[in-house]
Amino acid sequence: MAISVYHDLASIPLFDEDLEHVAEGGPDPVRRLRQEMDAADAVLISTPEYNQSMPGVLKNMIDWMSRAAPNEVLQGKPVALIGASSGRWGTRLAQQATRHTLIATEALVMPSPMLFVANAPDLFDETGRLRDGPTKVSLQAVLDSLANWIDLVTPLRPGSGAS
Ligand SMILES: Cc1cc2nc3c(=O)[nH]c(=O)nc-3n(C[C@H](O)[C@H](O)[C@H](O)COP(=O)(O)O)c2cc1C
Repeated sequence: MAISVYHDLASIPLFDEDLEHVAEGGPDPVRRLRQEMDAADAVLISTPEYNQSMPGVLKNMIDWMSRAAPNEVLQGKPVALIGASSGRWGTRLAQQATRHTLIATEALVMPSPMLFVANAPDLFDETGRLRDGPTKVSLQAVLDSLANWIDLVTPLRPGSGAS
């Protein structure tokens, strides 16, 4: 599995319907992300938790990607959710909120396994690499399941040709 990490969430402007018409598909960073998502077999969202929900920047990105024009890039897209926080619940509420929002986009969100990484500062080294063995195993299980999920649901995507 090749995973391309999207580093540019900060470049996505606050959603504004007036900006959607600047050029087809909205501002450049929005168009670029939409193209990247379109080309990807799946989207893996990794989130922290802010005030018992998803961060506003994540919701903002989903709002942009949910728009019908020029294409509803999340509709029928396989999506998996993971998250890490410094707290004890490991982003349960952030992931629940994200899952809820993704229902509206008609993304095909993988139901399990879930990965809630709690007490995150203890599990990563000083360079940010995951060093905790059990969490590595859980992450691997998520990625293995995501590969299966892609195979399972891709034929259900609009325009896939499957009956
Ligand atoms: C505004 C704000 C609110 C937060 N609220 C929560 C929360 O409700 N639950 C939680 O587990 N962590 C919360 N956190 C901690 C974050 O999930 C995360 O662990 C922390 O920002 C460290 O992220 P980093 O390791 O990416 O720097 C919050 C952080 C911020 C900045």
